[in-house]
Amino acid sequence: MESCISVSDLRLSYGQVAAVDGVSFDVDYGKVFGFLGPNGAGKTTTIKVLTTLVHPTSGSVSIFGKDVVRHAREIKKRIGVVLQEPSFEGNLTVEKALDLYGMMWGVPGERRRDRARELFDRFDLEELRGKKNDELSIGQRRRVQVAREFMHDMDLLFLDEPTVGLDPAARRTLLDYVKKHVHSGLTVFFTTHIMEEVEYLCNELAIINRGRIMAIDTPAGLKQKYGGVKAVEIKLREEKARSVLPIIKPLAGGSVIEIPAEDTIRISSADAQDMLVKMIEALAKNSVQMESVSVTPPTLEEVFLTVVNGGR
Ligand SMILES: Nc1ncnc2c1ncn2[C@@H]1O[C@H](COP(=O)(O)OP(=O)(O)OP(=O)(O)O)[C@@H](O)[C@H]1O
Ligand SMILES: [Mg+2]
Repeated sequence: MESCISVSDLRLSYGQVAAVDGVSFDVDYGKVFGFLGPNGAGKTTTIKVLTTLVHPTSGSVSIFGKDVVRHAREIKKRIGVVLQEPSFEGNLTVEKALDLYGMMWGVPGERRRDRARELFDRFDLEELRGKKNDELSIGQRRRVQVAREFMHDMDLLFLDEPTVGLDPAARRTLLDYVKKHVHSGLTVFFTTHIMEEVEYLCNELAIINRGRIMAIDTPAGLKQKYGGVKAVEIKLREEKARSVLPIIKPLAGGSVIEIPAEDTIRISSADAQDMLVKMIEALAKNSVQMESVSVTPPTLEEVFLTVVNGGR
């Protein structure tokens, strides 16, 4: 089946700097693809190529099955882009800016008014309608910039750090609004530095560093692969943690054992699942009763740091 985005060995150099250095990936229709990486990794540069703003140095990119260089005009009509840089419509009111943007996209008058009404409501812009862009706070401006993109229909939306400067409520509103559109078939390419947003929104993600993709998978898949050291915690029912150490220690190998509370043992392990099974088996065999067991889940932040630092 054809992918919505298909990138093969993409390279883009700014003079001597290889900003994108042989990147390949595919994004299916109706999915949210997260693109993560440290500052200067090549995220925005990739977006610029995918949205036809700059030509690749080499490699191929197809969007909707069409080559991005040869069919730029056609592709442009079906995509939306919220770039990282703020847009400048200093002197226009929010209301006018949205309307003009819709007009630029050829959205008919009645539909423009309906859309704007919905967006004012959804993005909490009602009070800002009559204000000029210059008079808005940074977060308010960003909200307008993102909302504006929804004035027109599209099949694919690129969001380059759309939530920077947004307060938690505005951030959640935006993510939910994007989600709603994804349910109706929109495909989204999304960059952020906030891992919770990736967890909340993305079906798949790639981690890019110095122009190269270091890892690509679902959030759960990446956590499994790169989750690193986790802790197993066992809470005992009657016995003191100290008294079961002779059972635990021989099985723990070189793992660190802690006793955070009188009745609790914590063991750090790279393979926590396996460790947990071994411990439960051994304790049960020795008739030690357990109140509860848990494994600290790995976080995407951990994954990100492991992947990025490992690539240095
Ligand atoms: N117009 C340009 N001219 C020269 N070099 C550039 C230009 N734009 C970006 N670069 C370089 O290309 C590399 C990738 O930059 P890019 O903007 O794609 O990073 P990014 O992943 O989007 O980072 P951030 O998280 O800070 O937005 C960096 O080394 C940057 O210095
Ligand atoms: Mg960027």
